[in-house]
Amino acid sequence: MKKLVVLISGQGSNLEALIAARDAGGLGAGIAAVISNRPQAPGLEKAAAAGIPAVVVDHRDYPDREAFDAALAERIDAHAPDAVVLAGFMRILTDGFVRRYEGRMVNIHPSLLPAFPGLNTHQRALGEGVRIHGCTVHFVTPELDHGPTIIQAAVPVFDDDDEETLAARVLEAEHRIYPLAVRWLMEGRLRLEGRRVRLSAPAGEPAVLIAPAIGSGVCRAP
Ligand code: GRF
Repeated sequence: MKKLVVLISGQGSNLEALIAARDAGGLGAGIAAVISNRPQAPGLEKAAAAGIPAVVVDHRDYPDREAFDAALAERIDAHAPDAVVLAGFMRILTDGFVRRYEGRMVNIHPSLLPAFPGLNTHQRALGEGVRIHGCTVHFVTPELDHGPTIIQAAVPVFDDDDEETLAARVLEAEHRIYPLAVRWLMEGRLRLEGRRVRLSAPAGEPAVLIAPAIGSGVCRAP
């Protein structure tokens, strides 16, 4: 059985989606541990309730990013995971840490990258007046929110949306695509070709093409 370590900082709703997929036999892996850099992260309780070891590595206990990342790597490696899954993990990682898990560390970002990397994505999407917004699962590379895309989901932006309604719509899409992407990774079906991620078919089935997108809803004309 393959193993994941999931890193969180907050609510852990993506973690819950991963746990639900695991319970339904659709994740292709078990979750060996959940690690949070914030002791108060509500996601820690969700992990514990699901019988998953919940660990805190508080970034405030370390003098700099290198020291924190070294401690984090030690806790991760103790579980010898097949992949590291960032699920709302709000820390910038050092290049050394990223390279250590290259090709086996993924992140979910609440925008259609390369649009809106970084923070406050929903607010910025509303400010720009975009009609389509969404989320992206990507491999993690040293450049923030810039790794090769595995899958994206698009959602419409409505005239009466505010940050909260838009965030909720995007989050729902996140919960659909993240377990799927993790399963593909665990099945060894993702292959990098430059910046493009190729998805191979499950064994014995005809080949499919690349990183699919899921669209939900139609964008209204202004
Ligand atoms: C999600 O929107 C994720 O894309 C972003 O942080 C949020 C985490 O939500 N990186 P949760 O903790 O999984 O509920």
